[in-house]
Amino acid sequence: MFEWNDKFSTGIASIDAQHQGLFSIGAELYAAMGAGQGKERMSRILTRLVQYTAAHFAYEERLMQLHGYPDYAAHKAQHDDLTRHVQHFCREFQSGQIGISIPLLHFVDDWLKRHIGQSDQGYAKLLTAKAVA
Ligand SMILES: [Fe+2]
Ligand SMILES: [Fe+2]
Repeated sequence: MFEWNDKFSTGIASIDAQHQGLFSIGAELYAAMGAGQGKERMSRILTRLVQYTAAHFAYEERLMQLHGYPDYAAHKAQHDDLTRHVQHFCREFQSGQIGISIPLLHFVDDWLKRHIGQSDQGYAKLLTAKAVA
């Protein structure tokens, strides 16, 4: 889970570094879960993942708007959708209703791989064609 593959590369160094950062925090969360770490530690990693994701989405959205990416609205809707899911999950986690589980991590891993492997490639193509990144 959360293993990087070159097929996820966008050809934009700053974006690839951020995506690798996301994978690396995801892997940390997965490892911490496997090691049976307590709620405090899990909560700290989870918070980092949420903040890093928010910063990454904002960075991408700024780039897309700056360069007039035509699919901006649909792309942002995907970001907002994941953000809503994750916020909902965080609330349930903090209130002790659910723990961090394999299905949950699978959901995030799957989402990231699909989004980075497909949706992010769309704006990356435009930006690399304009040679602005
Ligand atoms: Fe991305
Ligand atoms: Fe994206």
